[in-house]
Amino acid sequence: MTSTVFRFDQGLAVRRLGFGAMHLPTEPGPAHEAALTVVRRAVELGVTLIDTAYLYGGGANEELLAEALHPYPDGLLITTKVGVARSGAGGEWKLDGRPAVLRTQVEQGLRRLRLERIELLQLHRIDPETPLADQLGTLRDLRAEGKIGRIGLSEVTVAELDQARRIVDVASVQNRYNVLDREHEPVLEACERAGIAFLPWRPVAAGSSGAKAEIAAVAAEVGATPTQVLLAWLLGRSPVMLPIPGTARLDHLEENLAAEGLHLGQTHRARLDRLHEPA
Ligand SMILES: NC(=O)c1ccc[n+]([C@@H]2O[C@H](COP(=O)([O-])OP(=O)(O)OC[C@H]3O[C@@H](n4cnc5c(N)ncnc54)[C@H](OP(=O)(O)O)[C@@H]3O)[C@@H](O)[C@H]2O)c1
Repeated sequence: MTSTVFRFDQGLAVRRLGFGAMHLPTEPGPAHEAALTVVRRAVELGVTLIDTAYLYGGGANEELLAEALHPYPDGLLITTKVGVARSGAGGEWKLDGRPAVLRTQVEQGLRRLRLERIELLQLHRIDPETPLADQLGTLRDLRAEGKIGRIGLSEVTVAELDQARRIVDVASVQNRYNVLDREHEPVLEACERAGIAFLPWRPVAAGSSGAKAEIAAVAAEVGATPTQVLLAWLLGRSPVMLPIPGTARLDHLEENLAAEGLHLGQTHRARLDRLHEPA
């Protein structure tokens, strides 16, 4: 059985089944209070990896996590992402990996998250208009200054990952991936070979998997929900897989975390393996 824990370097370990905070409502009101409850419950239930980004509300999602969880319990890793900014001509969001932008977003992230160091900082996207060496060089400088602990990437190809690894150590990759969408299988395999954490986003196919007859059938046979089947399939797929399902609902949170205890046999896995829909 694969471990439920992933170990980064220097003894940093997380429970592989994490939580994606993107969907939590941040505007004031009852939904905000409910969001605080969900994220606190995630930690109570043993989640030690929470994913956020500057992009999620322009920092509001980071603030929500700090409001819910600070002072943080030992062993909790909140990872955030930088590199998308409102720097379009009309103030719209665009990829922006200019060194000053990355630095500012990291420094503001530290303040908003009330952290002295962001243990895993991900580049949300590679900005094609800024040399990669400048983007990663800035993150490497921030790491040397102790402001971030490790560097991750998001939505990269194998070639981009290789190119990045020639510039800096890469601790994680976050690409879209689930049982129905395996476009990034080669990237997962590259991560596996290198011992790099792979954080699949959209891991539960946005909650839509019950509509797929084969998934619903496997779920019924194993006595689980379709979403749990997707998560169990991911966890069994690779020891470097760290799914970050997102939900704003307590019942879905509890359902998702219980998927860690579901083990799919060879036959069920093989049926699910065949479901990949080419992009
Ligand atoms: N790097 C990137 O470019 C990128 C892009 C997108 C997302 N992300 C990260 O990845 C995380 C997850 O990705 P995602 O939110 O796109 O996809 P996801 O986790 O596959 O889907 C989340 C959606 O599924 C629903 N859901 C969750 N658990 C469910 C359950 N047990 N039953 C039914 N529905 C359920 C949620 O609705 P309810 O609230 O109703 O449960 C939510 O709308 C995000 O939170 C974010 O941190 C990263």
